[in-house]
Amino acid sequence: MIRKCLFPVAGYGTRFLPATKAMPKEMLPVVNKPLVQYGVEEAAEAGMNRIGFITGRGKRAIADHFDISYELEKEIEGSGKENLLTSIRKLIDENEFAFKRQNHMKGLGHAILSGKYLMGDEPFAVVLADDLCIPAEDGEGVLSQMVKIFNQFRCSVVAVQEVPQEEVHKYGVIAGEEMKDGLFRVTDMVEKPANEDAPSNLAIIGRYILTPDIFDKIKDTPPGKNGEVQITDALLKQAQEGCVLAYKFRGTRFDCGSIDGFVEATNHVYENIFKKG
Ligand code: UTP
Repeated sequence: MIRKCLFPVAGYGTRFLPATKAMPKEMLPVVNKPLVQYGVEEAAEAGMNRIGFITGRGKRAIADHFDISYELEKEIEGSGKENLLTSIRKLIDENEFAFKRQNHMKGLGHAILSGKYLMGDEPFAVVLADDLCIPAEDGEGVLSQMVKIFNQFRCSVVAVQEVPQEEVHKYGVIAGEEMKDGLFRVTDMVEKPANEDAPSNLAIIGRYILTPDIFDKIKDTPPGKNGEVQITDALLKQAQEGCVLAYKFRGTRFDCGSIDGFVEATNHVYENIFKKG
């Protein structure tokens, strides 16, 4: 049973400046919901109701979003607009939220390590909310699919997707032995390789299930690519000493950390979800 999900949201979101100057990237709305709410809904659908955020300076809007706004509720009472708050009220009522600050932006690995005391000694999920994942037609979210894999194999699982060869340099990339359709045992992992050096075109996206020994592995991981502590490097150690699985998920993922991906996501959600009610 995986109960906890960690959201590292401390990054600066520089690709979205000036929009992200005073507002967290994770609060950018895709149609009418902020990115981070989609992520928390996905976690809730997968059965996780303890949500931890690794935040930073200037991210208070996220904590406010997952808290009740009494003034607002009073204001719109009887106006017919109450239903616009239903989805967020449901999340607030059914989940617990905890926050911890990452004092130095030392990379995703470091952000996850900052969540050690929030996550404790149990397996947990990690969601990068700027990767928006829309479930496949059967409606099963990506985290939900990954929980099933974890329950079967009891080791860390990363979600991967095939990307064009000229884009692999933007991602952590895996090499692996295919155990069954779409499920790989990881043999190698490289963070942001040169396109010509990448071991495959299977790119890691922002969904992970991690076993708690990852924290010791991160502690032993020196800064890597771009001088940041990379979760990819810690996961490679886990793969070499034990097992890490890479899962080609069902569904559509949008890179909402980039302007193009964000606009595509907005159009997709508006046409396929919002307009259809
Ligand atoms: P990104 O590199 O995609 O996010 O990190 P960013 O740094 O905010 O965006 P750009 O590149 O400047 O536009 C992936 C995720 O890891 C988190 C980010 O918040 C994002 O969700 N992160 C990254 C941290 O929480 N702490 C860090 O030190 C680095």
